Amino acid sequence: MSIPEEIDFEVDADDLTPLAEDGKALGSPSLVVDDLYVTYRVFGGKRVGNATGQKPGVLKRFLSGGRTHVGGVTSVEAIKGVSFVARHGESIGVVGINGSGKSTLMRAIAGLIPPTHGAVYVSGDPSLLGVNAVLMGSLTGERNVMIGGLALGLTPDEVRERFDEIVDFSGIGDAIYLPMKAYSSGMGARLRFAISSAAVPDVLMIDEALATGDAAFRKKSKARIDAIRDQAGTVFLVSHSLATIESICSRTLWVHQGKLVMDGPSAEVCAAYKAFVRAQDGASR
Ligand SMILES: Nc1ncnc2c1ncn2[C@@H]1O[C@H](COP(=O)(O)OP(=O)(O)OP(=O)(O)O)[C@@H](O)[C@H]1O
Ligand SMILES: [Mg+2]
Repeated sequence: MSIPEEIDFEVDADDLTPLAEDGKALGSPSLVVDDLYVTYRVFGGKRVGNATGQKPGVLKRFLSGGRTHVGGVTSVEAIKGVSFVARHGESIGVVGINGSGKSTLMRAIAGLIPPTHGAVYVSGDPSLLGVNAVLMGSLTGERNVMIGGLALGLTPDEVRERFDEIVDFSGIGDAIYLPMKAYSSGMGARLRFAISSAAVPDVLMIDEALATGDAAFRKKSKARIDAIRDQAGTVFLVSHSLATIESICSRTLWVHQGKLVMDGPSAEVCAAYKAFVRAQDGASR
């Protein structure tokens, strides 16, 4: 994705935070998400309206969580009007309950799914730590390092140069010569992280990958994330572990039902989100 020259981002100076929480000066914007909407269309699935083809009532539409069903196609509005600006050198946590739209937001930023409305402007290359999309379980880790590296925009020679470093960082040793489907989820996550961060992307998105690693690997990952930030990259971390988010990210976005409900310092946003989850737990009991 490139930035057309005539675009005026219209960023309100009052909305910008010149300093990160830790007092470090932040860079210029690396990413602008402008009134983003993403709708999935699924063929088949259960009908939300009634058999007469009339529009579903307000209550039914509310209960269906934004799903509508027309002519055998179900539409799921997964992201509804999200806007924010991310800066070079920022690490941003993303929290929200299951199905709130976090992974969808990351995929849209990575350019893997097109917006139905609005736009994402990225300076440089975004890389979603689901190079997942291109990795193949039936192939060895070694082959997947090559495939993942190429997907990140490295040349075959560059991948070969970095191969040892990637394998060392992953710490999975000789398992690199086994098919990835024989890996434990932690081993798979380690190799994916090692591949994804090999290219020092401008925007790195990590969706839940750290949760499966052990403590030692989490520490290494944090160091790698800090290194990317120091090279003026932007890191997004989607996780259900608020402790991980608070220790790594200065800023956090809270996504709920496809909307950005809070955007601010991690401590504040995580506290508000925790209170919300606790209140929901209480209500469902
Ligand atoms: N490929 C898809 N096709 C259709 N609907 C989808 C698809 N992927 C996600 N959705 C729907 O979009 C909404 C948001 O899903 P998403 O995966 O972004 O949530 P999430 O916040 O990442 O959840 P989790 O915490 O469980 O990972 C959900 O209602 C989900 O059912
Ligand atoms: Mg997800």
